[in-house]
Amino acid sequence: MANQLVSLTRDADVAILTIENPPVNALSPGVPEGISAALDQAGRDPAIRAVVLIGGGRTFIAGADIKELEHAAQGQGAAPKLHALLAQIEDSAKPVVMAIHGTALGGGLEVAMAGHYRVASPDAQAGQPEVNLGIIPGAEGTQRLPRLVGVAAAIDLCVSGKPVSASQGLSMGLIDRIIEGDLRAGAVTFAREMAERGGPHRKTRDRREKLGSPQENAPLFAAGREQARKTRRNMTAPLVAIEALEAAATLPFDEGCRKEREMITACLASDQCRALIHAFFSERAAAKIPDVPKDTPAMAVGSAAIIGAGTMGGGIAMAMANVGISVRLKDSDAVALDRGMAVIRKNYESSVKKGRFSQAVMDQRMALIQPQLGYEGFDSADLVLEAVFENLALKKQIFSEIDKIARPDAVLASNTSTLDIDQIANATARPASVIGLHFFSPAHVMRLVEIVRGKATGKPVIATALALAKKLKKVGVLVGNCNGFVGNRMMFPYIREAQFLVEEGATPQQVDQALFAWGMAMGIFAVDDMGGIDVLWRARQEAKHLEKPGARRPLVHDKLYEMGRLGQKTGAGWYRYDENRRPSPDPEVLALIEQTARAAGIPRREIATEEILERCLYVMINEGARILEEGYALRAADIDTIYLAGYGFPSYRGGPMWYADTVGLQKVARRIEEFHRQHGVLWEPAPLLLRLAAEGRTFAEYDAAREQSVSAA
Ligand code: NAI
Repeated sequence: MANQLVSLTRDADVAILTIENPPVNALSPGVPEGISAALDQAGRDPAIRAVVLIGGGRTFIAGADIKELEHAAQGQGAAPKLHALLAQIEDSAKPVVMAIHGTALGGGLEVAMAGHYRVASPDAQAGQPEVNLGIIPGAEGTQRLPRLVGVAAAIDLCVSGKPVSASQGLSMGLIDRIIEGDLRAGAVTFAREMAERGGPHRKTRDRREKLGSPQENAPLFAAGREQARKTRRNMTAPLVAIEALEAAATLPFDEGCRKEREMITACLASDQCRALIHAFFSERAAAKIPDVPKDTPAMAVGSAAIIGAGTMGGGIAMAMANVGISVRLKDSDAVALDRGMAVIRKNYESSVKKGRFSQAVMDQRMALIQPQLGYEGFDSADLVLEAVFENLALKKQIFSEIDKIARPDAVLASNTSTLDIDQIANATARPASVIGLHFFSPAHVMRLVEIVRGKATGKPVIATALALAKKLKKVGVLVGNCNGFVGNRMMFPYIREAQFLVEEGATPQQVDQALFAWGMAMGIFAVDDMGGIDVLWRARQEAKHLEKPGARRPLVHDKLYEMGRLGQKTGAGWYRYDENRRPSPDPEVLALIEQTARAAGIPRREIATEEILERCLYVMINEGARILEEGYALRAADIDTIYLAGYGFPSYRGGPMWYADTVGLQKVARRIEEFHRQHGVLWEPAPLLLRLAAEGRTFAEYDAAREQSVSAA
């Protein structure tokens, strides 16, 4: 035995090194050492002619240990160093064959590329996803990858971060053979063949034939930079990765590696890397609910019944059918039901056309969705989910109906985006079974599900909802029951402030442009037009009782609603839309804004980008702090996850609360106090924010302290 994480066994003259570090054979401390020791042992054994490195369990090495990366990013330790191991593998006189199944990602692929040969199972995947964490492949990956696959493919792998399949890997030169059937046996046979064929077994670092000439490469690097700027807007790591690949193409291997090391060190010290690692761990932490432990009994949802075949009901039906859950989709209106099914069909057809899946898969999914006007079959569904119009009286009516039909142990869920889950639950005789499942539009695409816990919601129902989100490949975040829950509760002040800015002199496109350039997926007015001016209008009508007396109200939105400018769906909202839904500024809206401001006596002025950003973002952060203090979110990190997975917040800024930490809570609090003085009651600073700022603490520290007190309790 080499050590507990890597075992050494023999198949006659072939040594087999097996990594045993479940669940994903990450390169945690001990794994590189184990490989090194086993390789050493195999090297010294005269009976051994070749070596196979394989992962135990379900995968090859799926990547670095991200906890280690986090420590390095926080300046609390060096990044894991693999260089000595990679040289040892490559310098081995006996051929080393990497046998890949599952995934070889990041450091896993870098180890694999140091081997003399790579074989893979047909369903294996390999990739360099480091950019997703704000870094570059830093264990010589940027230097070996282009030597194996060429510059163009290496750029694509490093910038997109997306893995390739075994057959793609084979055609690009990353994989030497695909092994059908038993991988280990196939790898041993391959290793023996290579040993018999004899050396020299080429070292990847010595290959140069695919590196191209400066003339050939110049357009590839230019196109790569363009791709990075478009698909990874504002992110530094993809551009740094391209620079490292340029070094690979122009410098000797060792010098390229030295450059790569400088670059990865700089990446690890960057704000973007820290934010992305925060995002990574936050998403995983969201499923941990202190009073709903892992062993809480959860139901595996296999069948669902949905009421309302509109935008959301249809999208949710697709999300369910996509993972094999059978769905009964009911609407009260035959025309709406037909339209809903037609939309589902069209969406699937467009995916088949784009080659995302086959016609057969589409047919299977369509067959799982049963349209109907009545309640038949609702008595056998594991989950009954309501997605009718956003109207409390209607929702209560629906819940009292399904209460009479649904199975006693069924979960009863509402997709409401703002309404009171307790009131909905109380329309049934089983409030413990009722929960909010707030999906986002389009529901078959957006990853976020806010799981809304009512006063009476049972723990098994929460556990079931979390398990369902996971099954749907979405991110479930538990939130409390307040108006708008977490995401929309923060979005309401955000969009309100954006409207105040245009009343005071900015234009909608100026505000949107500032937000987009800062990193938001879309500007807020474009979002409003996409969601529908009427949707926000209706939510406001339902929440009138929550308005602060005497507070300023935005004036233009109601007028757009009254004019029937409902956004994209009517071809006009804050913007005007052509038949391809491309927006352009509308002079009519600009005139309406000016005229409304004049009539209300609001002085107009030039507004700087900085003010736009501060007012839009800080108002959101202030509301987030209040939500956190009131306990409607369990952690600041959960708020971040919600904004990253559901609201197009830029991942490399870590989410609104993390972003506030990086700005400095003292600065944020000071600006909010100034805005409070200038703009009145809507800017009242959140007490928690003021307290943390005064104590010189951050939201991340607040989370950590709470976590400790929970685990101590
Ligand atoms: P929608 O108007 O597209 O669809 C509602 C559907 O419910 C219509 O097809 C209607 O015929 C049907 N319906 C109405 N009364 C019914 C009844 N008594 N029985 C059966 N079907 C009935 O609305 P949308 O946008 O899908 O919204 C549904 C719910 O999802 C609302 O609560 C909304 O707040 C929420 N939501 C909406 C989001 C969005 O972006 N549109 C995002 C997240 C939540």
